[in-house]
Amino acid sequence: MQDLDIVILAAGKGTRMRSQTPKVLHTLAGKPMVQHVLDTAAGLNPTRTHVVIGHGAEQLREALAESAVSFAIQAEQKGTGHAVAQAQPQLGSGNVLVLYGDVPLIRRESLNALLAQVDEQHMGLLTVTLDDPSGYGRIVRNEAGDAVAIVEQKDAVPAQLAITECNTGIMAMTSAQLKRWLPQLSAENAQGEYYLTDVIAMAAKEGIKVCTAQPATAVEVEGVNNRAQMARLERAYQQQLADKLMEQGVALADPARLDIRGKLTCGHDVFIDVGCVFEGEVALGEGVRIGPYCVIKNSTIGAESVIESHSVIEATVAAGMNQIGPYARLRPGTRLAVKAKVGNFVETKNTEVGEGSKINHLSYVGDAHLGKNVNIGAGTITCNYDGANKHRTVIGDDAFIGSNSALVAPVTVGKGATVGAGSTIAKDVSDQALAVTRSRQLEKAGWPRPVKKTN
Ligand code: UD1
Ligand code: CA
Repeated sequence: MQDLDIVILAAGKGTRMRSQTPKVLHTLAGKPMVQHVLDTAAGLNPTRTHVVIGHGAEQLREALAESAVSFAIQAEQKGTGHAVAQAQPQLGSGNVLVLYGDVPLIRRESLNALLAQVDEQHMGLLTVTLDDPSGYGRIVRNEAGDAVAIVEQKDAVPAQLAITECNTGIMAMTSAQLKRWLPQLSAENAQGEYYLTDVIAMAAKEGIKVCTAQPATAVEVEGVNNRAQMARLERAYQQQLADKLMEQGVALADPARLDIRGKLTCGHDVFIDVGCVFEGEVALGEGVRIGPYCVIKNSTIGAESVIESHSVIEATVAAGMNQIGPYARLRPGTRLAVKAKVGNFVETKNTEVGEGSKINHLSYVGDAHLGKNVNIGAGTITCNYDGANKHRTVIGDDAFIGSNSALVAPVTVGKGATVGAGSTIAKDVSDQALAVTRSRQLEKAGWPRPVKKTN
């Protein structure tokens, strides 16, 4: 395999974001922009990946600590050519591809097309034709139609400003070519910067052909300079994800009102209503229906389950045929066996709910194990925390917990046992027994109600 170095520029300040966070760490679909670029880059199997950092260097190092990248420091931002030059000492002897930390949606296919052209006599340049080219470097071609230079907007003469073919900034060449050209860059231009784009004219002068390619869609090469562009790219990316899901047979109430911040896998005939957010790794089994405005994170929802509106589910595994919500909150460690039901205003945490068991209304069940066909009445609370430690509640098969009961853990309620409504259960309950702790009802016949004094 050909040696490949990928250089990702990420030293710019991103002033127009008006943020303390370095621009390339702003997230798109829940992932930093630069991470999108790194993930795409990784798909090209590079020998080395270099990230050129400057503004917010420490934050970037920290954020990318787990990534297999090396950093090149550009202490002062003297232009894109100067930025690439900072990585030059680390480059190998094969090909070099230049990418940008703030151009997150570039696709591997476009980059492969570019790299395929590169050899001693050819370099690759990704260009895009735009209705409004303002701000971009323009691609200057000779009579034969070959790209021979890039002129920056600020250096361009009127005839050049009329050119609509623009520089995306993404280019590929051999390491030898780049190492020849970088030292020749000069900052004698309108911005007083070392322009990477000047290598195009150097290539042309040496008789090296600049092979251009265009991305499938312009959104791929769009850079982010402000929050509005960021939001636009987010929508464009979400639309792509939605399109893929629909191709796979997922029914979306509105593809424009869906947010996936991670990986969502779906079986056949899944239906997702409007306003849902999926984070991390989420798997939805066949026929799962998700109501409006649910948030589901790192969870697996088994086939034929129904999640009603406004439910928030995290690190949960639901086996299938479950009924959840509306307004359920399933916190990490929730395990629902088949046909278990968790209804409105119920919070669960670190709890297994056995097959066919129901927690239908207004309860908190944490650090608990529920057997099969347990019925938890409305307003039941597992008192799992004594102020210092967490304790478990175990409820046997077919147990019935009356409404508004407090189960003071550690405690076990036996199989088939019944807890009377309004009880505070602090001691274990035997199998098949009834436990009630509330005081007996008192009745005073014909009791006269107090009347208001008149004086
Ligand atoms: C650059 C191109 C222009 C192209 C446009 C596409 C040059 C000279 N011009 O212009 O032809 O149409 O991108 O968006 O290359 N950066 C550094 N260090 C620096 C300067 C820039 O890391 O010293 C990084 C920035 O963080 C940014 C990228 O390089 O991610 C592009 O820099 P920017 O200043 O935005 O270049 P443009 O003027 O937009
Ligand atoms: Ca730019």
